[in-house]
Amino acid sequence: MTLNELDDEHSTEQDDSPRVLQIFRAAKDEDRPVNVSAPMVRYSKLPFRLLARENNTDITFTPMILAHEFVRSQLARDSDFSTSPLERLATPDGRQHALIAQFASSEPVEFARAAELIAPWVDGVDLNCGCPQSWAMQEGIGCSLMRDPDLVASMIRAARAQLDGSKSVSVKIRIHKDISETIKWVKIVQAAGPTFITVHGRTRSQRSSTPPDYNAIRSIRQYLYVPTLANGDAYTLSSTQQIAEQTGADGVMAARGILLNPAMFSGHNTVSIDSVKRMLEMCIRHPIPFALVLHHIMEMTAALLGKREKRRLGQCGDLLDLIDFVDERWGRGGVGGDGGGG
Ligand SMILES: Cc1cc2nc3c(=O)[nH]c(=O)nc-3n(C[C@H](O)[C@H](O)[C@H](O)COP(=O)(O)O)c2cc1C
Repeated sequence: MTLNELDDEHSTEQDDSPRVLQIFRAAKDEDRPVNVSAPMVRYSKLPFRLLARENNTDITFTPMILAHEFVRSQLARDSDFSTSPLERLATPDGRQHALIAQFASSEPVEFARAAELIAPWVDGVDLNCGCPQSWAMQEGIGCSLMRDPDLVASMIRAARAQLDGSKSVSVKIRIHKDISETIKWVKIVQAAGPTFITVHGRTRSQRSSTPPDYNAIRSIRQYLYVPTLANGDAYTLSSTQQIAEQTGADGVMAARGILLNPAMFSGHNTVSIDSVKRMLEMCIRHPIPFALVLHHIMEMTAALLGKREKRRLGQCGDLLDLIDFVDERWGRGGVGGDGGGG
């Protein structure tokens, strides 16, 4: 469904279209890009997503989940995905929020089954066509799907057939060196009816230090009638606006930027200690393994600490130790303390 079709749909009272499309429309009405927090293995889990949600993020993604494992094992389902009813509620300031589960798969039936299993808890599912790692290529998942648009098209059709129309089905891609190949690819995939497409403006072999090719995203955008997210090097709210303008995308997805500064979409250009403390609070309320909490706090405080302090932080052995470190360094308050926060 295109944004224009969505406009027409809005004349009816009940809107059963995917929540992400309602969000795209609301952002369009406000003349701003949709703010999206990227799928990030190990990182974009529940406490982080909740923090992003309360900081002006419209759509959050889970980390990539292996559909093969998810479908076969309850244990994998329990460890790969947790959510809270809060996640999909509108924020107190009335903004809608959507949660998308991202899967890696190369099997239509498996992808559709994983989508069906997770559907009650999410607003849509996404297929990872951008993971560049060699193990993923060997498994035929991630970026290797950029060689096989027909397979991706059949995976989208399979998931669509399994889900009701209120859920989105999307893909996240990287670009080819030769953009005409990506254009061919998206034309085939788009015909299968994805709700939206995310384009990461780097090729499979480009490192994240290589600047993303926004012009390539713009070229691809011209062939897309579904909403498009641009991805690559968004670090501040103003940069997301520039990226949206340069690419013609309807929204911008941030990964490393929001990892460093979960309040970036609220217009904060650097991370605040309040944000660090709020992340710790989220982790107390919605526990994840301590190693993951520590990784988050190390990312968020990387620019705030000296070498010795970073070493001391890395030595924290559990959550209490970590809270003590933060309290000692920046003062009590926030995390079970008495306000303030440096
Ligand atoms: C720690 C980390 C984990 C990532 N995990 C995933 C993932 O699970 N699925 C995915 O599609 N991309 C993943 N990516 C790629 C990002 O979603 C994004 O496409 C890439 O980092 C470019 O965006 P950026 O320039 O804003 O960082 C990951 C990136 C990082 C830094």
